[in-house]
Amino acid sequence: MKNIVIFGAPGSGKGTQSDLLISKYGFKHISTGDVLRAEIKAGTELGKTAQSYIDDGHLIPDALMIEILAHKYDELCPCEGLIFDGFPRTVPQAEALKAMLAERGTAVSAMLELAVPEAELMERLILRGQTSGRADDNEETIKKRLGVYLNQTAPLIEWYEKEGLRHAINGSGTLESINAALCNVIDSL
Ligand code: AP5
Ligand code: MG
Repeated sequence: MKNIVIFGAPGSGKGTQSDLLISKYGFKHISTGDVLRAEIKAGTELGKTAQSYIDDGHLIPDALMIEILAHKYDELCPCEGLIFDGFPRTVPQAEALKAMLAERGTAVSAMLELAVPEAELMERLILRGQTSGRADDNEETIKKRLGVYLNQTAPLIEWYEKEGLRHAINGSGTLESINAALCNVIDSL
């Protein structure tokens, strides 16, 4: 089983590229952002808790996020492959993922890092905000999300480098060229 972590800043193309990989490989997909937005839409207790964090551009607390992830994983797997989109986002989440997969006799196969310059991220998200309806796609919250990414999530680049799992991919360019670079890595696993 392949466990692929698709990693990158807000707007780096995690969701877009996940969709392309799913249609090519038939992998399952966990987007923690999508899971939380669905809970908000359904008006659940979890959704109510998540909303204030998301609208503010902050991360949901690790313990809660890890519990949600494990639940979602067991719902979808066993399966041929799974894409983790937006998880892990902190070192404790990466450690929890490693332990959770080890308990299930598997491991992360690769961390694919979509590297995109900050000005381009900002441009993409402001453009998306015109139609996405996402409460966090406004200039002020986007700036906060990028700050949170740099402080809390970017340290995972070195963490996965040390694990020997990091593959840096140029996340600027056409969807097809980026997708081809991701597929090259996946096919080599
Ligand atoms: P989440 O939903 O994961 O948002 P994010 O990480 O901020 O990333 P986005 O979904 O905005 O961007 P993306 O990388 O998927 O890019 P996309 O493909 O859409 O998380 C939202 C919130 O939930 C967090 O802030 C946090 O509060 C909470 N949360 C989620 N997971 C959590 C966790 N693990 N722990 C704690 N809290 C958590 O592309 C962006 C735009 O660019 C699109 O319009 C797209 O069409 C366009 N685009 C894509 N590729 C290209 C390209 N090559 N060229 C030009 N445009 C492109
Ligand atoms: Mg996304």
